[in-house]
Amino acid sequence: MAEIKMIGVVGGGQMGSGIALLAAANGIHVWLHDTDPNALSRAQKYVSTFVQSLVSKGHLSQAAGSDALIRLQCTSNLEDLQSADVIIEAIVEAEDVKKKLFSELDKIAKGSAILASNTSSISISRLASVTNRPQQVIGMHFMNPPPIMKLIEIVRGADTSDETFSSTKALAERFGKTVICSRDYPGFIVNRILMPMINEAFYALYTGVATKEDIDTGMRLGTNHPMGPLTLADFIGLDVCLSIMKILHAGLGDSRYAPCPLLVQYVDAGRLGRKRGIGVYDYRNPKKGKPK
Ligand code: NAI
Repeated sequence: MAEIKMIGVVGGGQMGSGIALLAAANGIHVWLHDTDPNALSRAQKYVSTFVQSLVSKGHLSQAAGSDALIRLQCTSNLEDLQSADVIIEAIVEAEDVKKKLFSELDKIAKGSAILASNTSSISISRLASVTNRPQQVIGMHFMNPPPIMKLIEIVRGADTSDETFSSTKALAERFGKTVICSRDYPGFIVNRILMPMINEAFYALYTGVATKEDIDTGMRLGTNHPMGPLTLADFIGLDVCLSIMKILHAGLGDSRYAPCPLLVQYVDAGRLGRKRGIGVYDYRNPKKGKPK
């Protein structure tokens, strides 16, 4: 494939805005699309604050920071992504919504474009099946936050071509990331292992084994994880965690993947984690309930 000069990112939430920034900081022109205008203004704010912090820490020169901001444009019109060489989807973790989008992208995107999904767990082959270019559909699973985390998990669908895989891997490496490759099974590698652990931490809390603080401290200091599983769940978003558990449960057909009722209850109550100010922990009052 020719050099990637323009990328489209769909979904301007915590992942999409980070992916857009990463691409712009690596010299690529980016169109970032979201249907929600509030999400686009939050994304713009996030990107400029992040660039300023990189400049003030000396990780980026002022000129490079300004160039990255110029390269990144936000739009509420999906058709602006039509010239993109690669379109990376980072919208809500729901198969029907993603399928609808992939079908639209297939019509809008130029014939040579790769359609990548940042899905945490949904089948790439099923997303590819609604397009006329399944050989150009691939999973490109960034870690949160994309500008910082060193890994990208690439997922090949049943029909993903070798050329699409090579171009996607080269793009991930251009971003300075290490690549791992997974076959197309629910949760791939990282979430197949991580989410059951997070779900088990919810069960430990739900059944009164210990306090949230002790569960997190136990995993942090006892197994050398940088943050405890409940803190991490708040960081990822409890709605995202629940969606992934449902996909593991349905796709692997084993009751051990059933989402913990406490996780379900928190999501039902709108306690989605850091992005809503409250999840397992309460972030609205810094003195109350914050993880140590
Ligand atoms: P988020 O909730 O922060 O953002 C999702 C965004 O998508 C929202 O701004 C929403 O307005 C937008 N959106 C929804 N439907 C849309 C549509 N049809 N067209 C355009 N925009 C639309 O979610 P987040 O956390 O950024 O997750 C996005 C994807 O990334 C999900 O598939 C998730 O599984 C995956 N992911 C999430 C990680 C995390 O730690 N949160 C890590 C890695 C992957």
